[in-house]
Amino acid sequence: MEQSQRGAAADASFSNSEHSERPEHSEQVEPWWRGAVGYEVYVRSFADSDGDGVGDLLGIAGKLDYLEWLGVDVVWITPFYPSPGHDHGYDVSDYCGVSPRHGTLADFDTMVAEAHDRGLRVMVDIVPNHTSIEHPWFVSARCDPSGPDRDRYIWADPAPGGGLPNNWLSHFGGPAWTLDEASGQYWCHLFLPEQPDLNWRNPAVRDDFDSILRWWMERGVDGFRFDVAHGMVKDEQLRDNPQIAPLKDDMHPFEAFAAFEHRHDLDQLSNTEIFERWKRVCGPDQVLLLGEANAPWPDGMARYVAPGALDQAFFLRTAIMGWSPELLVQMVRSMHDAAPEGVSWVLSNHDRPRPVTRFGGGEAGLRRSLAMSVLLMALGGTPFIYQGEELGLPDGVLRGGSHDPVEIRDGCRTPMPWGSGACNGFSAGTPWIDSEPRPDEQTVAGQRRDPDAPLHRYRSLLAARKQHPDMWRAPLRWLDSADPQVIALRRGGVAVVANLSPAGTVFQLDSGGWQIVYQSRDACSIIPAGDGDVLSIPAETAAVLKTL
Ligand code: GLC
Repeated sequence: MEQSQRGAAADASFSNSEHSERPEHSEQVEPWWRGAVGYEVYVRSFADSDGDGVGDLLGIAGKLDYLEWLGVDVVWITPFYPSPGHDHGYDVSDYCGVSPRHGTLADFDTMVAEAHDRGLRVMVDIVPNHTSIEHPWFVSARCDPSGPDRDRYIWADPAPGGGLPNNWLSHFGGPAWTLDEASGQYWCHLFLPEQPDLNWRNPAVRDDFDSILRWWMERGVDGFRFDVAHGMVKDEQLRDNPQIAPLKDDMHPFEAFAAFEHRHDLDQLSNTEIFERWKRVCGPDQVLLLGEANAPWPDGMARYVAPGALDQAFFLRTAIMGWSPELLVQMVRSMHDAAPEGVSWVLSNHDRPRPVTRFGGGEAGLRRSLAMSVLLMALGGTPFIYQGEELGLPDGVLRGGSHDPVEIRDGCRTPMPWGSGACNGFSAGTPWIDSEPRPDEQTVAGQRRDPDAPLHRYRSLLAARKQHPDMWRAPLRWLDSADPQVIALRRGGVAVVANLSPAGTVFQLDSGGWQIVYQSRDACSIIPAGDGDVLSIPAETAAVLKTL
């Protein structure tokens, strides 16, 4: 495809001379996502093409050359649908449209076509657990308690003595129920009151989402990310959840939520029926079905990706937790073994502080985060990078007030820093979120000039994965380590060793000669020894090796 045909949105500084044609599904022998690496675009903060301060679809189109240059294969775009924006797009009022903030359907088509021209796949975010309070289904359900739309949502009478129907809480604070004064019934919402939960026991809801998936597939999308996939079906009797810890007044909403065992509001076994149905709607291996399934690990998670259900589920613990090497090692090993191809490994997303910040900040946070990125790229499933992770960004520093109902998510949502200037090239206008500009060394432009920058580390890591497909394709065997903070694996002719401990160490390699093909930060070395080489590996560093 000629450069000129790819549309004005392309960013010339990242243009590459060759682009693959649109992927041909019929030639494939295995699903396209085998071996792929994903990239999450938080649409509001990625790139603003029209200067209104909010990221948009043409902004994404303009950065596809960058994503291709980086070496990712699929882009997941967070919700861009019409929405009143109480939860930044995760409160959808029309599942088959585009919010004017983010562009038009024609922009969407342009962006998808330009992605496909480069061999990049596109995934969209479907929010099936809840709609917006402004969705016509909810408006009708609320206005007409005896009408056909009422049962699309979960309504309950007050408890026998009056008051809330049960003890369920919202993730975002307070009860999961809001009273509709006109009808005297409460509606259920596991998030904000403006995000009423759908009733997935209602066949009309199931049918409508089949149509929504078909609508986006017809527009050429290659996959779906399902928001809160673990929350859709609720206990039919709406029973109380068992409380497992006391509630305190000053608790963050997430802590209060964690004070209950979510036996009746989350992770119901019949969620799986919905995924099986979606798999039938979407076909076996053309469209990736990837769920946000925040279920107990490893076995609860594994259920979501059992044969016939979702293709993959995000394992969110590694995107939530602080630096805890032994726990990380245990989690990675047990979660991998429970679902070797079914886990999409992530170090960050738009919902939690960035890993550099979570892992201690500064150089230590960066070193730890880069080491973890190597490990997660070698585990099977489709790993996803969250925008800016490849720059080793710490959380952005806010100047204005919080925009987030739970406050902790602003820092990872500040604009993507492309270059210099007051908003780092994100927008020609005033960004929707006011934050300190990033210094040059945290920007894409600044890092492109510095061969040691995290951006080049990530790019080389993705290139190593492509060059040595054993790294994700060959069967995985864990290698023994005496240190519980060291995790190592062998896949065919590739070995990956991650030393998460605060001290340098040596690791005995399998017999035969080895060569280092990638190291996360500080230099590793191979010390030849009689019965097999030894890898000398600094603290909090990971390396990829191949047999000679
Ligand atoms: C998911 C999204 C989050 C959103 C929530 C409610 O967890 O990632 O951003 O607030 O669902 O839709």
